[in-house]
Amino acid sequence: MKPLLEVKNLFQHFKISRRFTVKAVNGVSFEIYPGETYGLVGESGSGKTTIGRSIIRLYDPTGGEIFFNGSKISGKLDAATNKMLRKNMQMIFQDPMSSLNPRKKISDIIGEGLDIQGLYSDLKQRNEIISEILKKVGLSPAHAERYPQQFSGGQRQRVGIARALVMNPKLIIADECISALDVSVQAQVVNLMKDIQAETKCAYLFIAHDLSMVKYISDRIGVLHKGYLVETGTTEEIFSNPVHPYTKSLLSAVPLTNPVIEKKRKLVSFDASNFNYENQKLRQISGSHFVIGD
Ligand SMILES: Nc1ncnc2c1ncn2[C@@H]1O[C@H](COP(=O)(O)OP(=O)(O)O)[C@@H](O)[C@H]1O
Ligand SMILES: [Mg+2]
Repeated sequence: MKPLLEVKNLFQHFKISRRFTVKAVNGVSFEIYPGETYGLVGESGSGKTTIGRSIIRLYDPTGGEIFFNGSKISGKLDAATNKMLRKNMQMIFQDPMSSLNPRKKISDIIGEGLDIQGLYSDLKQRNEIISEILKKVGLSPAHAERYPQQFSGGQRQRVGIARALVMNPKLIIADECISALDVSVQAQVVNLMKDIQAETKCAYLFIAHDLSMVKYISDRIGVLHKGYLVETGTTEEIFSNPVHPYTKSLLSAVPLTNPVIEKKRKLVSFDASNFNYENQKLRQISGSHFVIGD
């Protein structure tokens, strides 16, 4: 199967001043296959959001290339590729309050992409599409006439998902989309995302800073540290055989469901100051499992 998304040797450096540059992303490469979920994890400041934004073209990469469905989508794009991308790649944001315009009705928030791309023939069809999508995310068609502040955090995130989903995209980038929600609501939203994926076969780039939900939703995982991808493999491989010390320390912070084991759990600390990732390449240790050496 051909990858849906290919990120090849991506660099994103922000020049802050003449003397100072933030090296947010350094030579990151990974692929996402159609219909799969790729979990991107790493602590705050590791470059996750920057990678998501580079993929969806909010930033122009300072190095490397990005391909979608075999077409190059970094750098200058022609109108047709741009249009294809706006339909097929959508984003769900972390904070559903600040990402939903408070002055717009839910129907207009969800309908915006449809309006721009002209994806309906008349208002009746537009209303039908919006009613359908509201039902799909567990809201009701009557919610279309309401405003974002009339909803709870979990409901707003469902609106965010509906807005992405209504375009029937092939890839959804979900940047910490459940981090602001209560733990019980997190599970509901993740379950909804899984159900939607089973039905629509969309792929997810699921970005998170902790591994607990990532384990549950991801087929493969990439571990990011200081802008470097230090380890990538199937969820099974990463959890059963983490190789990089940073991955081990991340895993040791995942709460366990068994309280007896949880009591004995030890946090593995990781001293990042000993690590110099420059000029290091991911090395394959088994089938699809790669890791940066120390
Ligand atoms: N637009 C920007 N300009 C300058 N520095 C930035 C910008 N965006 C992110 N950074 C810096 O890049 C690093 C990675 O940030 P980010 O991608 O937001 O990490 P994460 O999403 O993993 O928390 C941080 O040091 C951050 O301060
Ligand atoms: Mg972020």
